[in-house]
Amino acid sequence: MSAPWWRQAVVYQVYPRSFADSDGDGLGDIRGILSRVDYLAELGVDAVWLSPFYPSALADGGYDVADYRDVDPRLGTLDDMDALIAALHAAGIRIVVDIVPNHTSDQHEWFQEALAAGRGSAARDRYIFREGTGEGGAEPPTDWVSMFGGSAWERVADGQWYLHSFAVEQPDLNWGDPDVRADFVRTLRFWSDRGVDGFRIDVAHMLTKDLTEPLPSRDELALIPVDGRHPLLDRDDVHDVYAEWRAVFDAYDPPRTAVAEAWVASDRVPLYARPESLGQSFNFDLLLADFDAAQYRRIVTDNLALAARSGSSSTWVLSNHDVVRHATRYGLPAPARGADGTPLRKHGTEWVLAGGPEHELDREGGERRARAASLLLLALPGSAYLYQGEELGLHEVADIPDEHRQDPTFFRSPGVDRGRDGCRVPLPWTASGPSFGFGEGGSHLPQPAWFARHAVSALAEDPASTLALYRRALALRRELQTGEQLEWIDAGRADVLRFRRPNGWEVVTNFGTEPYELDEVEVLLASTPSPVGVVPPETTVWLAPAPTLAG
Ligand code: NOJ
Repeated sequence: MSAPWWRQAVVYQVYPRSFADSDGDGLGDIRGILSRVDYLAELGVDAVWLSPFYPSALADGGYDVADYRDVDPRLGTLDDMDALIAALHAAGIRIVVDIVPNHTSDQHEWFQEALAAGRGSAARDRYIFREGTGEGGAEPPTDWVSMFGGSAWERVADGQWYLHSFAVEQPDLNWGDPDVRADFVRTLRFWSDRGVDGFRIDVAHMLTKDLTEPLPSRDELALIPVDGRHPLLDRDDVHDVYAEWRAVFDAYDPPRTAVAEAWVASDRVPLYARPESLGQSFNFDLLLADFDAAQYRRIVTDNLALAARSGSSSTWVLSNHDVVRHATRYGLPAPARGADGTPLRKHGTEWVLAGGPEHELDREGGERRARAASLLLLALPGSAYLYQGEELGLHEVADIPDEHRQDPTFFRSPGVDRGRDGCRVPLPWTASGPSFGFGEGGSHLPQPAWFARHAVSALAEDPASTLALYRRALALRRELQTGEQLEWIDAGRADVLRFRRPNGWEVVTNFGTEPYELDEVEVLLASTPSPVGVVPPETTVWLAPAPTLAG
């Protein structure tokens, strides 16, 4: 029996509002994605993951969902989604959708009902409402801080407070409430019945909470170990929810899949990736790594071991809609890459670390290192998650004027964290035109002039482009794909990694600045033009497997 499709899939993340705009209103939409299915097929991805496309007031880029079983009218209709699912399937591409179960939008009918129904009502019990403290309950129940900055509590007209772990417009759901549990099962069935193949579960480690009084203070909370019994994070009982979901997924043929977005300690990742839980979990270690051989080797080794512990396959991510694009991270000196999560800021032409030294972005170097990293990632056992635009070698757009920014992290920091808009700017499809071919109208986030150099139309003609490299890599990966093992080979140099897959497919990444000599071997693909017998600095090459396969 062949392995389930998702174990070694290339999954391409589409951020729907910034992919392609079919009606010229400046916002990407479902018909826009539909019009680019050929592009996705030519790129050679196995699946597409759509970030939220549901009705939303866009307080958090769509992660504030007002209705989980509908499409934002600005993005299309359910019929459009059906057409997209059918077109992707006809092109042999699977579709994964984002489920956001920790919180709804404050526009969701449940939250509106909760506001109207008042304290003590069943409607309020679907969320986390508490009385305030201090005189007249005017102070929040605790001093907890939301992930986007500021208090995690907001007061409503009748004086009660509700918990929002993220933006004010994202009230947290109460997963102890049976309505909440039943409704998400309905949502999972709704999309599965429409043909969706899998789900990406937003902040999968935060759903269940123990809010028994007295609530701990922020300082007390920080001292509680996150070992499955923490009041707010990574609780063991969240897997009761996923066991129920697993039964839903497994009732379909083929079973629907899920991948957890769980920011948890490495040794707890396998809990989410177990077959009886969500089945796969993101590994974000490469988002935090420098372009450095030792760090890469440790991350790859550790994550393959973790995947083996859960029986799942590993996942690899270099960019997504929440982080500075990897071409840009790797275009800055190590301390400025935000490796510790420190926000990067742009002042004029200078990149600035909040409170740190200033650095000039090395555009070419960043793209070169990003190409090497991507080619390495695409040869690893497991699933590769790509983010729209990385195949174009796109950099972060650093200089979005403040008045155009949308991300709540920018507004709540306030202004200190530049937020995540810079990786969410609509894609350039053509080198000219009103919004570089994104649509007939404008673009909801401003596109810089240098996008012309990264336009699909320009890159498609250039065999040396990053787009050509990704297309070739994805096609070759299909041919070369093999068992989920990896064997390290001693490269004789600390700044060079070399590994072999079970069929003999070999990969060499030279992280250093000196060329690396190769024996007489056939190079199938290289991330920079490589003379025979040499892996140039900051380059990955794929070497032909044993003669049986190669020849
Ligand atoms: C994680 C998502 O990736 C991010 O974009 C969002 O802001 C938060 N979850 C809250 O939903």
